[in-house]
Amino acid sequence: MTDFSSADIIRRRLLAIAAGLPVATTLAAIGGRKVMAGEPTTTPMRIGIIGTGNIGSALAELWVGAGHTVFMSSRHPEELAPLAEQLGERAQAGTVQEAAEFGDIILLSVPYAATPQIGRDFARELAGKIVVDTGNPVARRDGDMAGPALAKSTGVSSQEFLPRTRVVRAFNCIGFRTLRSEAHRKGERIAIPLAGDDGYALAMAQLLVTDAGFDGVIVGGLASSRLFELGKPLAAGDFTASEMKSMLNEYYINNQ
Ligand SMILES: NC(=O)c1ccc[n+]([C@@H]2O[C@H](COP(=O)([O-])OP(=O)(O)OC[C@H]3O[C@@H](n4cnc5c(N)ncnc54)[C@H](OP(=O)(O)O)[C@@H]3O)[C@@H](O)[C@H]2O)c1
Repeated sequence: MTDFSSADIIRRRLLAIAAGLPVATTLAAIGGRKVMAGEPTTTPMRIGIIGTGNIGSALAELWVGAGHTVFMSSRHPEELAPLAEQLGERAQAGTVQEAAEFGDIILLSVPYAATPQIGRDFARELAGKIVVDTGNPVARRDGDMAGPALAKSTGVSSQEFLPRTRVVRAFNCIGFRTLRSEAHRKGERIAIPLAGDDGYALAMAQLLVTDAGFDGVIVGGLASSRLFELGKPLAAGDFTASEMKSMLNEYYINNQ
């Protein structure tokens, strides 16, 4: 199966390499050591979380543990008060609008069918921001919008639903239990594939993957998110980065 033309593949690989440079630079700046839990790779970030369910709450905890500040949100913010209290002074909870305003980076982790409405309702607050999108279009939950979204690739669809933002696909194919149990594990970490069209946004998202206790592997531009949609081989959720890179290399060689 060929997803891209050769020119597209080369362009996307260059984008991935370019996006890797700031990350390498940042890691070099902290001496190239392995980053441990509780030690952010970069200046602490302000992260607005839209959708604080299974995935959003796990990432909130991991990022607070790494020194970042999170603003978790819900349509029923009072329900998040105990979690905010448990996570301490670097966590607060409130409305979706407040989270969208607060974050320099936004985690969007909602049932996929809510994405268009969020893009419309919070267009002003989200404009120009990096949006790390974990959502998966699933027909049985999200209805008729799931098919066309998958046909375009979720990354391309999310960017259309969230215009004027810098969408990065990440954390869509790791289960929330694995997210909690395998973060910062000893030995080779689990890989999280990332896709995005904006090199800076990809680099920042990759740092957040590291701080959550995983290894970010940049697959390519947003259209390449189709390579790790649910059900695709890359989406098994428990590869190491070296395993994932070998699979990607094989894919790109076979599809040149
Ligand atoms: N579960 C997994 O293991 C997993 C793994 C990878 C990716 N994903 C994907 O990631 C996304 C989130 O999954 P999840 O399991 O974390 O879901 P979840 O536990 O159901 O949490 C989703 C959250 O989204 C919020 N939400 C729903 N509609 C909203 C709207 N219109 N505006 C604002 N917030 C809204 C809900 O909060 P309120 O009702 O309180 O507002 C809810 O807490 C899904 O697209 C899923 O397919 C899930």
